[in-house]
Formats: sequence, C-alpha cells, structure tokens
Amino acid sequence: MSSDDIAVHVPASVAGDWFRSAVVYQVYPRSFVDSDGDGVGDLPGVIGKLDYLHDLGVDVVWLSPVYRSPQDDNGYDVSDFRDVDPIFGTLADLDRLIAGLHARGMKLLMDLVVNHTSDEHPWFVESRSSEQNPKRDWYWWRSSRPGHEAGSAGAEPNNWRSAFSGPAWEYDDRTGQYYLHLFSPKQPDLNWENADLRSAVYEMMRWWLDRGVDGFRMDVVNYLSKEVSLPDGPTDPETRYGDGSRHYVCGPRIHEFLHEMHRNVFQGRTGEFLTVGEMPGVTVEDAILFTDPARGEVDMVFQFEHVMLDLEDGDKWRPRPLELTRLKASLGRWQEALADRGWNSLYWGNHDAARAVSRFGDDGDHRVQSAKMLAGILHLHRGTPYIYQGEELGMTNMRFAAIEDHRDIEVLNHHHEATTHLGRTDAEVLAAVAPLNRDNARTPVQWDATCGAGFSTGLPWIGINPNADRINAASQVNDPDSVFSFYRRVIALRHEDPVVADGDFMMLLPDHEQVYAFRRALPPVEMLVLGNFSAVEQSVEVGDPTWAEADQILGNYPMESTLRLRPWEFKAFRRSSRR
Ligand code: GLC
Repeated sequence: MSSDDIAVHVPASVAGDWFRSAVVYQVYPRSFVDSDGDGVGDLPGVIGKLDYLHDLGVDVVWLSPVYRSPQDDNGYDVSDFRDVDPIFGTLADLDRLIAGLHARGMKLLMDLVVNHTSDEHPWFVESRSSEQNPKRDWYWWRSSRPGHEAGSAGAEPNNWRSAFSGPAWEYDDRTGQYYLHLFSPKQPDLNWENADLRSAVYEMMRWWLDRGVDGFRMDVVNYLSKEVSLPDGPTDPETRYGDGSRHYVCGPRIHEFLHEMHRNVFQGRTGEFLTVGEMPGVTVEDAILFTDPARGEVDMVFQFEHVMLDLEDGDKWRPRPLELTRLKASLGRWQEALADRGWNSLYWGNHDAARAVSRFGDDGDHRVQSAKMLAGILHLHRGTPYIYQGEELGMTNMRFAAIEDHRDIEVLNHHHEATTHLGRTDAEVLAAVAPLNRDNARTPVQWDATCGAGFSTGLPWIGINPNADRINAASQVNDPDSVFSFYRRVIALRHEDPVVADGDFMMLLPDHEQVYAFRRALPPVEMLVLGNFSAVEQSVEVGDPTWAEADQILGNYPMESTLRLRPWEFKAFRRSSRR
C-alpha cells in the first residue's frame, strides 16, 4: 500500500484539545510512598516523587481519593468531600501537591466519588435520622417488599446484588426502611433525582476547581441515574440475588445529569480541564454521546469492554484465556467509533485490576519485553493513555498465600460468601481470585531493593511483593534498557509527533492470533506499529514489505530492519511520503 491510499481524514476537533497529546498517571496514594512510617502512603510521599513523575514525562496525575473517609473501600467511601483524611495528610499538603505539580507543568485530577458517600457523611447521618429530614430524599430509601417482614431475609425492596457480595440493600431500624448501596453497606447511593443534592455536588466541584485542581476522574459516574421504580433484575442461579445493572448503567437521565454538571461546574471557566468518567458497561454508542464535545458532558470515558474479554460471563472470579483477535476487535471498534466525534481513554490497568504485565503479557521470562510491548501498543493508539503506578516499572501481580493477606473488601466478602454459602473450599476460592483480585495492583510501589522497598520504614498496610529486590525504580531510572526508560520514550513520542496524538487509526491483521498490528496516519506521515503477543517468533505480512526500510523509531530489542518479530517484540516504524 502506498501513502496515496491513506484515507485523508482530519477529525473535526483535532485543533485544540490539549489532552490528545497528554499522558495521565494514576496515583493510588495508600500504596505510593509513606513519608511518616505508619505503613500507609500519604500526600507528602507523593510530593516527594514529583520529580520522578516529571522525569517520566507524564502531564497529569489522577489521585485516587484522599478525602476524609472511614476507609471501608480505601477512600471510595467519602465522609467529607472538602477535607483530607489524616492518614494522607492535610489540605495544606494537598495545596502543596497542586503547587508542586503546576510548578512542573503538570495537572491534578481529583477522584470524584458522587454515586455514593460514606454512611458516616453528614448528609447520610441526617438522611437516616428521620423520614421527615430534608435530606431523606438525598439517598434511596424504600420500604420492604410487600408481604415480607422488614429486616427478614428476602424482604429487601428489590433483588439487586451489591458489587461487593450480598444484597444491595441495608435495613435501618431507626426508620424501618432500607437504603440502597450498590457497593458496601458503608457506601449508600446518592439519589441524583434530587435537585438539591445535585447542586450541592456541583458546588463542591467548583470549590475544588477554585482551589486549583484541573479536573476530575468520576467514579462509576454512569450509575448516577437509576430507573426510579428500581425493578428487579434477572436472578443469578447461584445466589438468590439479581443483577440490577440494566436499571442503573447509563440510566434514563444520565446524559442530562452529566450535561447539567458540565454546565454548572465548567461553563465560563477558563483554563485547561479534563474530565473522565469511569463507566462500567458503557456501550460504544453511548460513549460517542458522552464524549461528543458539542454535547458538553465529559471529555472521555473509561470503558470496560476490553477488560471483560478474559472473564467467563463477565465474572472476574472465573478468568479465562484472552484471545488476541477479540482484544483487537474490541479496541479497534472503539477506535473507529470515536474517530469523528468524541475521544478514547486508553488503559491496561488501574487500582481495580490485575497488573498489566501479568494479565496481558508474560510476567515470567519475558516480563521486561512484554511490559514494553504493552506500553508501545497502548500508547500509540489514538486516545489519552493512563499509566497505573508501578506499571512503568513492569510491576507484577502478587502471590497472596492466604485470605488473611488480602485487604480488599471485594475479595474478602467474596471469599466469605463463596466459602460459607456456595460450598467452595478456601483453596478453590484463593485460586479463583488470584489472577484478577484488586489487591494485586495495590501492593506498594517498589522504589528500591531495601526491606520496605523504599515505600515505608514501618509495617506496610498490605504486603510488599517479594520481587521488589529485582523489580524497582532505583534500578531502572538510569538504565536506558529498562521498562521505565521505554515508558519515557513512548510518552515523549506522543508529545513530539502529531501522528500519535491526532493521526487516523487503522487496525491491520485482525485475524492474526499473536500479532497486534496497526497503522496511524496524519499525511504526509504514517506509522506502522507491531506487537508480538507471544513468545513465538512471527513473520509479519502487512501488504507492504517496504515498511521494513522505514525508520524504526521505537522497539524493545536491538533494532533490525525486518518485519520479523522476536518473542514479545514491539516495533514502531515511521515514514513520510515527502521523502
Ligand atoms: C470504582 C472504584 C473502585 C470502587 C468503586 C466504588 O469502581 O474505582 O475502587 O470500589 O468504584 O466506589
């Protein structure tokens, strides 16, 4: 194929959006750096690593929640939206973090958790106090199912299951009603039908922007609008609960709410902001609407399709091998769908997922090569890439020996449910949860080979991966062949080469079971990107052997001018038709 047959297509919104060439780095503060030796990471710890992040080259830091919180779900249960939890530091520390980031040309995204609050948030304390309280309607209160005695098993207002096992309803004997919690009972869902609640949230968001933050990552934001009749969902044969998701995933008023939020919070504000909505179950059709700049909702969404392909029936406790053809079909479809309107976010992992190299690569003999290959493939897609802390070091999943070594409410509750109600043995459950449980990503960042891995001088809140003696930042930052150095290069490439940020995307070899291949084009420049998702050498036919003569601009092996791929090899070629 010659450069003449490249479809010339300059998307409407190419000009302008700064985040097209930006890379975001997620900090999960609890596991980043502990500055005071209490075993839990904190804001001064993050501040101490700003030069590291700047050196890596990232543009934006997304900070997982540091608000006041009882920490039932590690901060995703907020009891005060306008203060910092003492385990993480103070508001003054947060101001210093903002200033330190801005001084280095970086931005801060706060995690916005407004599908629910903590049950200890004053709003909920008021709401639960009486049926007449003005904030009663800020949460979802319902009476028991007709014909059932309130508080008895099966009397819940509907059959929804919570994401953390058990029913999505908690009985509150103060008023004899139930409240809805899609997550833990300590995370009651807010009722976005209530206009006063919505105004209170917008006011809080403006308060943060006034303080200097540059945007928000919005937690499960596509769950905000629920079908108000809260109907039963299809029942899971194994448990007595139902799946209510069709009644709250991208519910009836979600676009209205997000548009209203955008108008109330961002309209008239000058500056460069970023909003990304976490949206489990979002379809590509809905994502086009959510991210169409003309509609004023969010800049981009985290979709979940590509991280569901290795699950049986969407069940994270029943992992199955990933088929590369399905991964390419999925990511390729999102690339295509958001080519003209809207924008993609790109990620392999986060604090809710397994470590990228363990899940999509080979964390054994080919760890370094496959971690780099994954970075190259992801970052050269069209969209804004997100790096989860430690991914830039090729950190791996943790082997947890016993359930007692886990900390995450999701896996602990599942273990309890499966061993007490579903007849599984402890060993069966541990094996089933090993690949994808969230604690894999939550072990401390491995800064050096010392006994606390440079994370803490105290007893860490969760175990440190014993491979910290081999896999750590200290051994990588000055090594040009390290995973870290590769991330630096691929980030720099996005900053420097407009074809990465703005070029069209074309998937190649969709049926190839081992090779991920695509072309990017922003005439007169085009790029060919190849990744071997296997340990078996591959010869790649992309219909144009002259590509082998193009400049290889990035690779994870010593460069050679062929389209042959060694185990887990990554190659990116670039050429310009004005030769
Ligand atoms: C999101 C968060 C996750 C949290 C859940 C409930 O999925 O990323 O960590 O448990 O929402 O807030």
